[in-house]
Amino acid sequence: MIFRQLFDQVSSTYSYLLADEGTRKAVFVDTVFEQHARDTALLRELDLELVAVLDTHCHADHVTGAWLMKTELGSKVGLAAAYAAQNVDLPLAHGDVVPFGACSLHVRATPGHTAGCLSFVTADRTMVLTGDALLVRGAGRTDFQGGDATLLFRSIRDQLFTLPDACVVYPGHDYEGRTSSTIGEERRHNPRIGGGAREEDFVGYMRNLALPHPKQLAVAVPANMRAGQPEDGKAPLAPQWGPVVTTYAGLPEIAPEWVAQHREKVHVLDVRSAAEFEGELGHIKGAQLIPLDDLRARVAEVSSDKPVVVVCQTGRRSGMGAVILKKAGLTTANLAGGMVRWRDLGLPS
Ligand SMILES: [Fe+2]
Repeated sequence: MIFRQLFDQVSSTYSYLLADEGTRKAVFVDTVFEQHARDTALLRELDLELVAVLDTHCHADHVTGAWLMKTELGSKVGLAAAYAAQNVDLPLAHGDVVPFGACSLHVRATPGHTAGCLSFVTADRTMVLTGDALLVRGAGRTDFQGGDATLLFRSIRDQLFTLPDACVVYPGHDYEGRTSSTIGEERRHNPRIGGGAREEDFVGYMRNLALPHPKQLAVAVPANMRAGQPEDGKAPLAPQWGPVVTTYAGLPEIAPEWVAQHREKVHVLDVRSAAEFEGELGHIKGAQLIPLDDLRARVAEVSSDKPVVVVCQTGRRSGMGAVILKKAGLTTANLAGGMVRWRDLGLPS
């Protein structure tokens, strides 16, 4: 199984990508709205088909990317039926199974942090995504959104601590950079519920956390009750000038076929050496030449009246060129595959 843990720095949220290697079918768990471009780039680059995007619960600290995924990729949105949220295709309940190719996630109801919290266990019970029920050396707060410390104690004891000791715990958040734990480890060392803590111990601890309310609470909860659909019902606009795709590395890229067909709409900047510019690969008609080594010093020479497509031999140096132009405030994208792909496609030079 393919497994990736991704982090959103603003909300300290972990998102998880799981995929079946054979069929390339994937699920994403706890996506973050603002990380949509990153997450879809990873799916694209790993050649995965997203069948479902799940949330462990209705989050209060970030907006889910589920609706965006559904809108763009046609994947099903899964969330606990208990919330009765909008835009949900898979209203999940305890005992449900979410298959993706030969793999699957098994749903366990672990309420307490919120009334609808779910944990997702892999079929072989080697991994559990606990959302905010069980955290690394912690547990999700229980002081709003229908939270109930007694209920959370029972959820962790009966649904999570009954998993094998070696089962790896992947939490919904961590504020200290800890990425995972195991059930055995948490059963022994969790300061709130480990080491044989009784219900009264846990409830007493949780009642006295005295945490400030999350900054996004008023925005995030209503948005998440629509699976992350913005209030106006529309997806945020992608760049308007062309089909720019952001890679997982964070680079804006554009396909050579589109550039060839819309040559007059863009300014082409070639960042190879003069010798390469006149060499066997040739260059795109009307391209401006500024070698990458000189680009920072000469960036003012690049006209900003049109979006700038940056070109090199294979699309690596030009990637750096696009970074430099972006920093200088220009609208830009890297020509995917550079002049090598341009030639392979038989485009004019
Ligand atoms: Fe939460």
